[in-house]
Amino acid sequence: MDILDALLQEHQVIRDLFDRYDQLGPRSHAERRALFHVIRAELESHHPGEEEILYPAIRAAHPGHLDERVEEHRVVRRLLAEIALLGPEDKAFPVKFLVLRENVEHHLREEELELYERARASLSSREREDLGRALAAARGRAAEPSS
Ligand SMILES: [Fe+2]
Ligand SMILES: [Fe+2]
Repeated sequence: MDILDALLQEHQVIRDLFDRYDQLGPRSHAERRALFHVIRAELESHHPGEEEILYPAIRAAHPGHLDERVEEHRVVRRLLAEIALLGPEDKAFPVKFLVLRENVEHHLREEELELYERARASLSSREREDLGRALAAARGRAAEPSS
């Protein structure tokens, strides 16, 4: 699969998870915590796929934008780590979760409108397919139980 299509599918999964959060009642603490951990796992697998496979392939053509996107990944990673330390009944939880969501939504938009478009222009469809295979292989390795 074209790596950009694969990454766009992951963006949609992440957006759907955030939407699901909206449907939880204010007292659904256990569900909030569980959903947060699913969102965290999705983001922590999505970001390395981009940083290790897509970004290096387009770095020479588009250096500036990538630095900004990598920095956004770092901010999101820090927020995820901070939220993981809080109980969902903690007052700071919904506040930090909202900031996380705003950061992630901004980031996904920037990638889709700029970075992925540039990648589509600077990589051939053959290259995008090869990168998609590399991404799928990396996902397969990550899913294997480590011994
Ligand atoms: Fe990203
Ligand atoms: Fe992304």
